[in-house]
Amino acid sequence: MTTLFISASPAQAKPADSPLNEGRPTSTHTSKAPTVVAHRGASGYAPENTLAAVDRAAALGIDWVENDVQRTKDGELVVMHDTTLERTTDVEEVFPKRAPWNVSDFTAKEIARLDAGSWFGPEFRGERVPTLAQYLDRINRHHQKLLLELKSPELYPGIEKETLTALRRGGYLDEAHRRDSLVVQSFNGDSVKRVHGLRPRVKTGFLGTPPVKELPDYAKFSDQINPKYTTATKDYVNAVHKLKGPRGQRLEVMTWTVNDVATAQQVAGDGVDGIISNNPDIIQNAVG
Ligand code: G3P
Ligand code: CA
Repeated sequence: MTTLFISASPAQAKPADSPLNEGRPTSTHTSKAPTVVAHRGASGYAPENTLAAVDRAAALGIDWVENDVQRTKDGELVVMHDTTLERTTDVEEVFPKRAPWNVSDFTAKEIARLDAGSWFGPEFRGERVPTLAQYLDRINRHHQKLLLELKSPELYPGIEKETLTALRRGGYLDEAHRRDSLVVQSFNGDSVKRVHGLRPRVKTGFLGTPPVKELPDYAKFSDQINPKYTTATKDYVNAVHKLKGPRGQRLEVMTWTVNDVATAQQVAGDGVDGIISNNPDIIQNAVG
């Protein structure tokens, strides 16, 4: 299997608020305001990747949520960012002898015992690590749209097919959702390619900043190129926009993670299609 697409180095690492950006061309971009996405749920206000975080995004009126999926020892898909459990749960107290606390070393029943909220604030005590099924049920009830990241899929062979099955069961693979309510993304290009191969009509995204000359290769299987904001320059966004993705539509750019107004306005001016943020309400007000 090729590793060509596993990662890509930033093309132009230049902070958007850097003095180095003085003199950048003024944007002539005139299309609609970027979509704002709640990163790991509204993770500036509630513990990331929990139901509380997507509830908060809904309460803020944010339609799109970004979350991460991984797999437990016994094959359950769960919503979790880190590949280990200690940063965002009380796993060290509950299972002190189980270091290094890999997600993949714990069963779903064990993970369901963990408190995934107290680390963020006492009012979130008892919040759980949701299974993907629980999570989809909740965001479906909120009518939220989903940017789902396959996190470290190289650790979980077959997770692409399993995730697509869960999305189908959760109601996210019908035509309406495929049209404008779902993107499956990953830093692992081979994984994105597998998702596209399994379900060509599902919109996909590659996380990273591939060199411009390699973009046509990515456009064969990825509908979005989603770079860190420091590399989402106007020239790069324009280069992406010149291409069409595998579903025949203009390639899009969703950039991350933008938490301040000045940077949001900069990347919006540079023409990005989406901004992923921990405080999406502030960014929505700035660019909406
Ligand atoms: O969606 C973009 C962003 O989530 C990628 O970074 O580390 O927060 O998963 P990370
Ligand atoms: Ca993510």
